[in-house]
Formats: sequence, structure tokens, C-alpha cells
Amino acid sequence: MIKIQTLNNISKNGINEFPIQNYTIENDMNEPDGILLRSYSMHEMNIPESVKAIARAGAGVNNIPIDDCTARGIVVFNTPGANANAVKELVLTSLLLSSRRILEGVEWTRSLFGESNITKIVEAGKKEYAGVEIAGKKLGIIGLGAIGALVANDALALDMEVYGYDPYISVDTAWRLSRNVQRIDNLEEIFSTCDYITIHVPLTNETNRFVNEKLLSLMKKGSRLLNFSRAELVDDAALENALNDGTVGVYVTDFPNEKVIGMQNVIPIPHLGASTKESEENCARMAAKQLKNYLETGNIKNS
Ligand code: MLT
Repeated sequence: MIKIQTLNNISKNGINEFPIQNYTIENDMNEPDGILLRSYSMHEMNIPESVKAIARAGAGVNNIPIDDCTARGIVVFNTPGANANAVKELVLTSLLLSSRRILEGVEWTRSLFGESNITKIVEAGKKEYAGVEIAGKKLGIIGLGAIGALVANDALALDMEVYGYDPYISVDTAWRLSRNVQRIDNLEEIFSTCDYITIHVPLTNETNRFVNEKLLSLMKKGSRLLNFSRAELVDDAALENALNDGTVGVYVTDFPNEKVIGMQNVIPIPHLGASTKESEENCARMAAKQLKNYLETGNIKNS
């Protein structure tokens, strides 16, 4: 009997969809062979000696102590691409939300409850809450992996000019990307040229706080920055300054910190990028399958 322990929030539908024979998957168990988790942080946890593999139902693995696992010979999987569509749809929503002032408009319109002559007053809001269009604007995508590539193609369909930065782009992604995505080889150029910038890179020592004071200072006044990757990718003090002086016109993130969460030009949302029924099932299915394959056959297949 192979024993897999789940640590939190794993879609039961996803796991139940693939045939598990001679397996037991539970939240609480002694001496598991594998661990299946979503966002639980394993950094403070004593990983049992019995564990041979860990699978994260998600893309980022910064909640797993990778160096310790490597030293102990524990194989770590993630689920690349399994939640890419969900994140892409949130990015597209946010491009539009940050442009059309819908949230402020809804708040104002709700506040009119109880007034008479509502139709007339609401009409006046069209001046106050006027926005801008995304068509014809420049979108910079930092990271052209599974999510970045999907965002690129859909943004093109919305008539944006799309620029991409990714020093590690794979041949497969390059093939999937339309020729209309303009590849830029330096970050400074992306930050100084684009009206919208969206970040899709993993958190590593190299990318920690890579969006620093210098890059933020290059942004066009009033431009929009979207971060659905990890909070630590952006230097928070520099971001606060850029939001205060209006260099960053709107910041949309599902990783708000205490400094920026209440600012008028920040759209803070919960960590919802991957939170759709479909994506949760895809991730759980892929992660459970990876563990099963590895524990049964020793094959390491990260797909
Ligand atoms: C990811 O790294 O893909 C996300 O953090 C997934 C999640 O929200 O579970």
C-alpha cells in the first residue's frame, strides 16, 4: 500500500478522477511515502524520513524547502501549466479593471441607495469615472512561460501591442507564441516603453525584488503594474514610493502587503489567480499522477 498525505486544500474531484489502486490518500497519517500539497509552507515542518516525493498542486515551489529535499534525495514536482488558464483570465480581467474604474464606479453607485432621481445622478458618473481603453496600448510581459504565453496571445486578440521579456524561453513556448509578440532583451526597455506590465516569473534568489527602485522609476507616469506571481518579486518600499508619486498609476495584485493594501490606486485581491474549479482539479490530478508514477515506477515526469 502506497501512502500519500495531503497537507491542505487539494481538490478531491481532481484526485478522485484518476484510478488509485493500492493507494491511500489522507490528511493525517504516519510514515507517508509522498506528500501532496497546495500552499501550505513546509519550511518549518519536520518532513518524515519515509517521504520519497512531494508534489505541489501549483506552479511555484517556494513553500517547499528545495535544498533540504535535494540533499535528502526527495523528488519535488510542480504542475506547470495546469493553472495557466485560470491565471490568464485573472490577468485579462485586471487589464480591463485597471483601465475602466469599474470598482470605484460600483462603490459610488451603491452609495446612492436611498436617493431619489437615481437615473439622473448615475448619468453624472460617466464623467467622474471615465477610463481608458487597452486596445492600441503596449503590454509588457515579464516571463513567457505557460501563463505569459497565454496572456500574450489573448492580449493580441484584444488589439494590444505585446512585448515579451524572458531570457529562458523554451523552444516550445517560442513556437506557440505568435510572431506578433515582440521580444525585448532588457528589462529597462520593457519598463520604460510599456503602458501595462504583468509579471509571470517564479520566486528565486535571482528574481527576489527584481522589480526595484530603478525599474519602477523608468515606468511611464500612470502606467499599470500587475503582479499575480509572488509579493517578494517587487521591492515594497520602492513600490510604495512609485504609487505615492503616481509613477505607477494602478497596481493590481493577489499578494497585497500591509503598506499598499489601503491605497486608492491599488486593486488588492485575495490570492485567487489559480482559484477556479477547473484549475484546482487540473493541478490536483496532475500532482497526484506524478506522485503515483514516481512511487510506482521511479519515473520522474513533470507533466
Ligand atoms: C501557483 O504557484 O501556481 C499558485 O500559488 C497556485 C495556488 O494558488 O495554489
